[in-house]
Amino acid sequence: MKVVSVLNRKGGVGKSTIACQIARGMQLREKEVLIVDTDAQGTASDWAESGGEDTPLVVKIDRATLEDDIPKAGKQYDVVIIDGAAKAERMNVSAVKASDLVLIPLQPSAVDIWPVKETVELIKTRQEVAGRPQGAFVVSRAVTGTNLASSIEDVLSGLELPLMTARTHQRVAYPEAMGRGVGVMDLNGREKAAREVESMTSEVLELLNQQRPVVT
Ligand SMILES: Nc1ncnc2c1ncn2[C@@H]1O[C@H](COP(=O)(O)OP(=O)(O)OP(=O)(O)O)[C@@H](O)[C@H]1O
Ligand SMILES: [Mg+2]
Repeated sequence: MKVVSVLNRKGGVGKSTIACQIARGMQLREKEVLIVDTDAQGTASDWAESGGEDTPLVVKIDRATLEDDIPKAGKQYDVVIIDGAAKAERMNVSAVKASDLVLIPLQPSAVDIWPVKETVELIKTRQEVAGRPQGAFVVSRAVTGTNLASSIEDVLSGLELPLMTARTHQRVAYPEAMGRGVGVMDLNGREKAAREVESMTSEVLELLNQQRPVVT
């Protein structure tokens, strides 16, 4: 079982969208996937409720003890994906402890360095103790045709975590899929979004496969 968290203290950056969409992407590749919804807003839970049998299972956990709860709740799954909440420091500390990989979504138009730094610090502190999790930035809701380089790379330089190649762009397919409880891959005529989620799913699985066992 591998655990992936999607965390950013800032609200509305695309955490739930990425968590649910890559969960569906993994499920389409025959992985057993569980989503853990740590957000009282319940975006991931609402998504699953709108969906059908093919939507990954979502469980809510509202205690900041994910490092104890997930090994039990997620035992029979290949991948557990934690949908983080905004402004939830204790929960995020616990998510980092429970994780093999932490994705930090960033909206390029509104990169807010402080919440990102906070998540990076949590990852680094945990790495010193436990040798994991890995962390990676992922661009979310990029606007087609705009140049990311200047805005994003300035902000991220010095934070020492990689930026994933896969990203999402601002597309109506995402809210549409979230409202229907499905993946963008399940919609007709949404190939661009589908390809983005497929690339992101592949990259996340590669990152998880590259991990060496932690020596304790
Ligand atoms: N790639 C995208 N294209 C278009 N809209 C998007 C995209 N990603 C997310 N959104 C929309 O942006 C809003 C915020 O996204 P989402 O709920 O995934 O963010 P979040 O980080 O989980 O927010 P919160 O901090 O409130 O939990 C939602 O209305 C969602 O449908
Ligand atoms: Mg959310």
